[in-house]
Amino acid sequence: MGVEAAELGEACFKVVQSHRSIRSFKPDPIPREHLDAILEAARRHASPWNLQPVHVTVVTDRGLKERLAEVLWGQRQIAEAPVFLVFSVDYAKILRALERQGAKTRRPGLADYIQGVISASIALSWAALVAEGLGYAINFIAVYGRPCETAEVLKLPELVVPVAGLNIGKPADMPGLTPRAPREALVGVNGYGDVDSKAEAYKLTMEGFIEKVAKVLGPGGPVEEMDERVRECLRRRGFNL
Ligand SMILES: Cc1cc2nc3c(=O)[nH]c(=O)nc-3n(C[C@H](O)[C@H](O)[C@H](O)COP(=O)(O)O)c2cc1C
Repeated sequence: MGVEAAELGEACFKVVQSHRSIRSFKPDPIPREHLDAILEAARRHASPWNLQPVHVTVVTDRGLKERLAEVLWGQRQIAEAPVFLVFSVDYAKILRALERQGAKTRRPGLADYIQGVISASIALSWAALVAEGLGYAINFIAVYGRPCETAEVLKLPELVVPVAGLNIGKPADMPGLTPRAPREALVGVNGYGDVDSKAEAYKLTMEGFIEKVAKVLGPGGPVEEMDERVRECLRRRGFNL
């Protein structure tokens, strides 16, 4: 590895290590060249067969941001941040391109959706990395829980399903880092390892957070109620589920 490559790797690692979610933003706009770099990082996302089943909506309009904040659980940072990027799984343009040249197509299904979600997540992560590297603060938003509501606000066509949002801007506050479970909870070499010792490692580091985790994974939690919405939204937007 050359010196330059090592420096680049270290710089990327530094960005990742100092990441924290910011939920309060200054209104300062993002200069065009910085937004271009962030969107270029998203454009370079990898995807299965290089399909690129991803769309990014750049939301800067105050009215639209207010309506998105409303449908996305009233999260004010969405309206506050100068830029809100919405990452969607997008088969609309791909199928249209194929149909235009007379190719036979089918409706996308569950595996198509999963590959779209992974591709959109890569685009989201790369955009986030560049944004943070440029000195901006970010906050990911769980758009996947309100896909049809978000699509309606943005007037997205059929076969486009929004999954994640990214607020970008200058931070109005700087909270501390949030802990992560230790590597042994994350990594298994040549297999999974022992569930109990992983659970113990997870629980110890997530102390203080475990109650929040229990709410999320408990019956009637906030994610459970998303299930039917997501299924129904995918069907409504033309997916074969
Ligand atoms: C896919 C995804 C969706 C998220 N959705 C939200 C959200 O809707 N609102 C929010 O405030 N934070 C959201 N977050 C941020 C997480 O809560 C945060 O990353 C996590 O608590 C770890 O904290 P940190 O980012 O400060 O390290 C989301 C993160 C991810 C990866």
